[in-house]
Amino acid sequence: MKKNIKWGIIGVGKIAEKFATDLSAVKNAQLHAVASSTSLERAKEFAIRYNAPYSYDSYESIFETPDLDAIYIATPHILHAENTLLCLKHKIPVLCEKPFAMNLKQVQKMIESARENDTFLMEAMWTRFIPAIQKTLDLIAEDKIGKVKTIHADFGFVAPFAPEKRLLNPNLGGGALLDIGIYPAYLSLLFLGYPTHIQAISNFGETGIDEATSFVLGYKNNATAVLNCTLKSRTRTEAFIYGEKGYIHIEGRFMEAKRITLYEGENKPVKFSFPRKTFGYNFEIEEVNECLREGRKESEKMPLSMSVKLISLLDEIRQKAGIIYEGID
Ligand SMILES: NC(=O)c1ccc[n+]([C@@H]2O[C@H](COP(=O)([O-])OP(=O)(O)OC[C@H]3O[C@@H](n4cnc5c(N)ncnc54)[C@H](OP(=O)(O)O)[C@@H]3O)[C@@H](O)[C@H]2O)c1
Repeated sequence: MKKNIKWGIIGVGKIAEKFATDLSAVKNAQLHAVASSTSLERAKEFAIRYNAPYSYDSYESIFETPDLDAIYIATPHILHAENTLLCLKHKIPVLCEKPFAMNLKQVQKMIESARENDTFLMEAMWTRFIPAIQKTLDLIAEDKIGKVKTIHADFGFVAPFAPEKRLLNPNLGGGALLDIGIYPAYLSLLFLGYPTHIQAISNFGETGIDEATSFVLGYKNNATAVLNCTLKSRTRTEAFIYGEKGYIHIEGRFMEAKRITLYEGENKPVKFSFPRKTFGYNFEIEEVNECLREGRKESEKMPLSMSVKLISLLDEIRQKAGIIYEGID
């Protein structure tokens, strides 16, 4: 019988709702505790909706919970490092939302703390665990499209003008790159590794955040990636992985794709479908559950070294595009 993993959530906003919904679809796991920094009532209501026995009105209080196995951090970007360090100090395994933190320095501190406390830590890059992405990796490993030479990917939607909310608020780490540009950036690392050349430009909005960022990456083997994110237009949010012999189309929204198509040479295109009833967060939850059951301190599929590469790439893109957050280098 598999050990039942008891989860806690810090920050009961929008993504916490989706995560808790998908957690209820995962076998041998349950929501056990919920902490809100602003309202015990919100925490209690959330806990009742998802049958969690414990709820608190401060993040510090969640550590009073008996038998807590893991915490999911669902706060704005600017708080990820602080919240993660708090959990690790209490030796509670952490799944922290993307971006892992605001910059490389913060990520390094989080990793140091995970190692010092011998505690599991993973960035919630759910895309890595989506079956369509795994299938894409498998097809490339089977040499169906040859060496990857170009990636095109975009992520865009029209964000409502709410300057105080996290998406457009620079004090909460708002902006397109860190919120959604992180997905095409991650895809490029997954399929091409770390680039040798980076070009990036941003458009800035009224609140000072990057409303749109476009970036072009170059690699040692003459491969390229052409990537884009925007909070001003609804784009197709698809990805194309082009190789020397063919290509793979990851249908929109690519970060949570249910369908991919393989175009192998002159052959008829082959579609692969991965229907599901969940949002898709169940796959990353299952990965964490398995790691904890096996006593592992990090995931092999989304290792801490990948989080270091991802934040380093975002730092470099920010620097090239002039995206600045006060007090963050
Ligand atoms: N993986 C994905 O698909 C995905 C999708 C959306 C968002 N995300 C990530 O998840 C994180 C949260 O996003 P969200 O859309 O859920 O945000 P949200 O709806 O604004 O919720 C964030 C929660 O953080 C807590 N919080 C603590 N201090 C806060 C402050 N100063 N201002 C605002 N909220 C504060 C609040 O909960 P309490 O009042 O309960 O403490 C709030 O409800 C972001 O880092 C984002 O990148 C990931």
